[in-house]
Amino acid sequence: MAGKLEGKVAWVSGANKGIGEGISRLYAKEGAKVAMIGRTVPEGEKIAQEIEELGGQAFFYKCDVRSEREIKASIEETVRRYGTIDILINNAGIVDIKPLHEYTIEDWDYVMDVNVRSMFLSFKYAFPYLSTHEHSYVVNLGSISSFVGQDTTPVYTTSKGAVLNLSKSIGLDYARYGIRCNCVCPGITETPMLMKHLNAENDPDAHYKKRLTRVPINKQLYPEDVAKTCLFFSCEDSSGVTATSLIIDGGYLGCAEWDASKHE
Ligand SMILES: NC(=O)c1ccc[n+]([C@@H]2O[C@H](COP(=O)([O-])OP(=O)(O)OC[C@H]3O[C@@H](n4cnc5c(N)ncnc54)[C@H](O)[C@@H]3O)[C@@H](O)[C@H]2O)c1
Repeated sequence: MAGKLEGKVAWVSGANKGIGEGISRLYAKEGAKVAMIGRTVPEGEKIAQEIEELGGQAFFYKCDVRSEREIKASIEETVRRYGTIDILINNAGIVDIKPLHEYTIEDWDYVMDVNVRSMFLSFKYAFPYLSTHEHSYVVNLGSISSFVGQDTTPVYTTSKGAVLNLSKSIGLDYARYGIRCNCVCPGITETPMLMKHLNAENDPDAHYKKRLTRVPINKQLYPEDVAKTCLFFSCEDSSGVTATSLIIDGGYLGCAEWDASKHE
């Protein structure tokens, strides 16, 4: 059976680990040619090679998404290899954990440049290709922090709020070009980023367990779960859906309070 993304070309940022790796593997399995964009060459090349060994098509391209020049070059290289871009996945992101008064302007800019400005730049350079198709797709990774505050990550939370509204703006302004843009907002997902967050706690394991008691489905999500949600927004399964968001958090934001012990 043909995959859902047969013949499509996907550009995925932050593809060398975590959710971006999950997206790259799933999209290749569904028939897409995947341009894996990221900073860490050995990890990224290894994943691209594994995808190719399994019969998929992918290449890794070293790119710091803070750099306009490198993003532009990554788009050009994708088009040189695969002819176009149908799907733009802005997944690269970082979290910086400290109170706001301890930030320098450089710290602030770093998080905002990776998490938000990169989405503007990738869209700017991919637009000439996205706009040539009857259907094309932009998926931006937001977070539950796009909707609620979280402690000690003030700039991350700010950036994810911005991602949500940027996604809406793109969805509205480019609807007439056949481009649909949506924001996927994960909750607790087991990736290196989550581990960084947990390791900032005195007892990471205990903190993780406690956080999971707030999740009604009573388990963490994995990159594959988030990748499936992104896939929905990257094909006509979601026809008619644009300028909106989908929270994938196991019910975390669905309730004001949750007592896991009452539901055992
Ligand atoms: N893991 C979670 O619980 C969670 C929850 C909500 C939202 N998210 C969002 O999902 C996305 C992926 O997160 P993840 O958990 O897989 O994180 P991760 O830290 O495991 O992976 C992040 C990826 O972004 C890349 N990246 C970071 N800075 C970059 C830069 N300057 N240039 C190029 N690439 C860069 C990293 O190399 C890595 O590939 C992020 O946008 C994150 O905010 C994650």
